[in-house]
Amino acid sequence: MTTEQKKQMMLGLASFGATGLNFRSWMDPVAKLESYPDITVDIKAAQLAEKGKFQFMFFGDFPGTKAANNGDMQSMGLDPLLIATLIANHTSHIGFGITRATSWSNPYELARQFKTLDALSQGRVAWNAVTGANGVSANAYGIDLAHSFDRYSKANEFTELVQTLWASWGKDALKLGHSTKEFADYAQVKSINFKGQYVKSSGSLPIPPSQQGQPVIFHSGGSENSIAFAGKYADVFVGEVWTIEQGQAIRQALRQAAVANGRQPDDIKFIAGVMPLLGDTKKEALERHASFIDGDTFLQRVAHIGYVLGVDFTPADLERPIDPSILDQIVITPYSDPRIENVVKVAREGWTLRELVYHSVIDYYPAAVGTAQDVADHLTDWFESDAADGFWVMPDSYEVDLPRFVDEVVPILQERGIFHKDYEGTTLRENLGVPYQYGLRGESEAN
Ligand SMILES: Cc1cc2nc3c(=O)[nH]c(=O)nc-3n(C[C@H](O)[C@H](O)[C@H](O)COP(=O)(O)O)c2cc1C
Repeated sequence: MTTEQKKQMMLGLASFGATGLNFRSWMDPVAKLESYPDITVDIKAAQLAEKGKFQFMFFGDFPGTKAANNGDMQSMGLDPLLIATLIANHTSHIGFGITRATSWSNPYELARQFKTLDALSQGRVAWNAVTGANGVSANAYGIDLAHSFDRYSKANEFTELVQTLWASWGKDALKLGHSTKEFADYAQVKSINFKGQYVKSSGSLPIPPSQQGQPVIFHSGGSENSIAFAGKYADVFVGEVWTIEQGQAIRQALRQAAVANGRQPDDIKFIAGVMPLLGDTKKEALERHASFIDGDTFLQRVAHIGYVLGVDFTPADLERPIDPSILDQIVITPYSDPRIENVVKVAREGWTLRELVYHSVIDYYPAAVGTAQDVADHLTDWFESDAADGFWVMPDSYEVDLPRFVDEVVPILQERGIFHKDYEGTTLRENLGVPYQYGLRGESEAN
């Protein structure tokens, strides 16, 4: 197989309107944060990611939630759609996967905002269509959170309405005919009349298509309903998995869900999370990460690892590896904490309990620890084992760890022929390999 023929990995930079993905990154002396919010931080990070040819930035959205009163940065207050809008003006190729929950958003407003940004950014937007299950966010919007079945039933309708609105301006309606004095052929601007059980809208969304037609659909979730939703609508699924086996299983389930909906397996890309902890050695990488973990957090994590393994650790246990006999006795069931396999795997490498904590084994995503080579090996292993089509990358800080990733890890992936050396095009669809879509799936030609 030549280098050109190898399948290509996707990279997304996680972004939460903060100075990095570690909520203590603002305290890093090199961060020099003098005020908050500071859009220059986000723009600089986006430009670095674009230098590294990342396909997209991935913005979570948890409105209403407050950081804990412990030195963590408030990182979910800002509206990610507006952050992305400002960044778009300072970048040219990187795309934006922006989360908005169907449980508490208004479909017309969402369709309008996303299509506006997609058109103005020349086709670089994706909507991460989550249902949202966060009670604090739901309360902020004054809604009662429904159970999974209803949340997903609504999400189905909501997404169909949004895509129907997106196509209400006919693909060729814009004329800009100077001699005919015809701005647009308004016969091609349809009025829709959508009446669902959960959402309704009539009228049109008078915005022409972007260069990629309409925003790409991302989805994130955890349940079987989530996989079924993704099978119908999602081009990209951003997930939470801790081991290669878990990645393989969910990726396979998504591919089957696509086929069940008359699509090709490759029509859904599965993106796994990774926290790159970079250093000149593994020890140094762990020490840097440790500098972001304070005493209370450290003790909570020790207790959580103890809980997961069913052990009461004492202070003396901190500086020695976990007894292999403890690890041998662990029984993993479908009800176990999904991080347990990774806890056991890393513990078996012989790290002390303290170092195990610094490996962030109980975070929402696995860490890749060590030199650029080590981190590139982690990504390559997962990618070549079909556990992921790409990664959302969570560097501790944008000031230090992101540049290291871009300058040191990306070139290794490129050298191995599994990450592109340049953007394939200017739209997010081109750069993700997602076909043009306008309106509901399969209706692009009709619109
Ligand atoms: C990777 C990932 C990112 C998520 N980001 C958000 C988010 O930004 N905002 C939000 O309200 N929910 C977010 N969620 C939560 C999902 O909306 C969903 O409610 C949760 O994963 C539970 O899954 P389920 O709804 O399929 O049961 C995210 C989930 C995952 C796996």
